[in-house]
Amino acid sequence: MGSGIAQVSAQAGYSTFIFDAQAQQLQKAQASLTASLQKLADKGKITPLQQSETHSNLHFVNSLDQLNQCSLVIEAIVEIKEVKQKLFADLEAIVSPTCILATNTSSLAIASLAATLKFPQRFIGIHFFNPATIMPLVEVIPGLATDKAVLESAQSIITSWGKTVVIAKDTPGFIVNRVARSYYGEAIRIAEEQIADYATIDWALKTYGGFKMGPFELMDFIGNDINYRVTESVWTQFFFESRFKPSITQQRLFEAGYNGIKSGRGYYEYGEGKTKPLAKEDEALGEYIFQRVIAMLINEAIDSLYLGIATKQHLDTAMQKGVNYPLGLLQWADKIGLAQVLTTLENLFQEYGEDRYRPCVLLKRMVKENKTFYS
Ligand SMILES: NC(=O)c1ccc[n+]([C@@H]2O[C@H](COP(=O)([O-])OP(=O)(O)OC[C@H]3O[C@@H](n4cnc5c(N)ncnc54)[C@H](O)[C@@H]3O)[C@@H](O)[C@H]2O)c1
Repeated sequence: MGSGIAQVSAQAGYSTFIFDAQAQQLQKAQASLTASLQKLADKGKITPLQQSETHSNLHFVNSLDQLNQCSLVIEAIVEIKEVKQKLFADLEAIVSPTCILATNTSSLAIASLAATLKFPQRFIGIHFFNPATIMPLVEVIPGLATDKAVLESAQSIITSWGKTVVIAKDTPGFIVNRVARSYYGEAIRIAEEQIADYATIDWALKTYGGFKMGPFELMDFIGNDINYRVTESVWTQFFFESRFKPSITQQRLFEAGYNGIKSGRGYYEYGEGKTKPLAKEDEALGEYIFQRVIAMLINEAIDSLYLGIATKQHLDTAMQKGVNYPLGLLQWADKIGLAQVLTTLENLFQEYGEDRYRPCVLLKRMVKENKTFYS
């Protein structure tokens, strides 16, 4: 992630310093950045001048001390709280008092990383999506102690890098990694109940929902190791909330090393001679699968709005720009009709008797008052 973020910054004209604790990793980053810029130049996406200017903005440094002139440091190191805290303590002794310290963490609380700093008011989450050079979304997450001016500066710097910024509350999974959980979890649940197989569920969500990839194709693409760990982390941090509960199915794939495309096998098999099974293209079944998954996704987005995780515009932008959803989920709720979403959830709640299907109180109130999100 670090080299992708550095490329975005350098291409936007910022003098960018890259440090890694392992010299070998730093060399790897240098080689991959050179190759990436060359590829862009070969495709005509950047001019030779832009290529050389970007190169001159990049400085690969072999000591943390050389970050002393930076006005913003974005940490993208190993996802271990204590290791990150130690790095920030070291950085505080090096950078100026006005330097913004930021983390690209996907799963740690901003408050917990800020807690050991001398000046927690300068600390903030700046969460990019992989690959950082391509994905337009960046979630900016102020912690409890973050100064308003630091939030505004972070927002304006990242916007000037050509990214779309959304602001999220410091809660597990921020926006995207929380709201998207049902796309995977409910799809796996439908398969576990043997209502439909993986190929049919993928077909249903692409055909009736217009999603670019079905949930099983997407999990195999992301990697089941990564997707499983995110699910487990969000579930644990939400004190075992049943909506986020991981599945044994995915845990087994992860344990077996069936991590998806990168390991040749996940929900599907990949490689020479391997083809995906055919979907059972049954309209009523497809519609049922789509309505069930979209109702769960919309419920999560509404709950996030209700709890002030982000504004409705930022919630919708995040899902469109961070995971390529064809529509924002609150826009989608208006399109389907809030009463229909509520009926789907109430039917599921009644049939299963499980807490995971309980409709958000805001959805219930809005239906009662005949309200919509946008019109
Ligand atoms: N990979 C993703 O899809 C993704 C997406 C969004 C956010 N993130 C977050 O970005 C961060 C990095 O993830 P990654 O996938 O790029 O990890 P990675 O393991 O590929 O890279 C981490 C790098 O940090 C270096 N490092 C470790 N400890 C260090 C230290 N003390 N000082 C300096 N360098 C050190 C390592 O040598 C390594 O090169 C994590 O916090 C992760 O949660 C990852």
